[in-house]
Amino acid sequence: MPLLGINIDHVATIREARRGDIPDVMNAAHAAVAGGADSITVHLREDRRHIQDKDVAGLRKILKVRLNLEMAPTEEMIRIVRVIRPASVCLVPEKRQELTTEGGLNVHGQMSRMREVCQKIKSKGIMVSLFVDPKTNQIQSAKDVGADAVEIHTGNYAEAKGDAQAEELKKIHQAADAAVQLGLKLNAGHGLDYKNVQPVAHITGMHELNIGFSVIARSVFVGLEQAVREMKKLVE
Ligand code: PXP
Repeated sequence: MPLLGINIDHVATIREARRGDIPDVMNAAHAAVAGGADSITVHLREDRRHIQDKDVAGLRKILKVRLNLEMAPTEEMIRIVRVIRPASVCLVPEKRQELTTEGGLNVHGQMSRMREVCQKIKSKGIMVSLFVDPKTNQIQSAKDVGADAVEIHTGNYAEAKGDAQAEELKKIHQAADAAVQLGLKLNAGHGLDYKNVQPVAHITGMHELNIGFSVIARSVFVGLEQAVREMKKLVE
């Protein structure tokens, strides 16, 4: 049964709409944990559109569960993460104009850079996961550059319908098998919601799902603790 990581970026999105201090990101983390979150994820973006540096430092201090930091593989972020030392880092590609992460990292196309970044982060005792599309060459490259884990991008699966969705799920299964065979920890996320999560949660070897938007959106109506509890039940 996979673990559930909850991404609370969009609590900070609401806060930043007024540049104030509510809703409180630390309280959100506590509520997510009370609802059954096994870890908390935040994405410190280059443009700081939601999560701020102080949030990452604060979460690192108060959390009793693992903190997973999503970040682009830039020198600025590497410097920050080596000081804050979360339990794990998930490296993602990042574009300023995107609404959210649009696809996986091209690890295969930048092996030496990714090897260097993984090494710089791992040398501080931080686990490194690479966010990749469900393609076996990217999974193999993640292993080759020294990543501990992959997070398979489920965005295309989440957006597809009918037969196209079944095809996307097949790709995720193939990539997942490759990751497990290579001894990589297997995570998945992006676009997962209350309707589409179960086929991904059932994949053999799935270690953890990282879910944000759908849970925060549901929390508007039922509260965050309950929204997480409902997702946890589906994942289990
Ligand atoms: N995993 C990664 C690597 C992401 O970039 C995101 C979005 O921040 C998520 C998971 C969560 O995606 P969603 O908010 O669509 O659930």
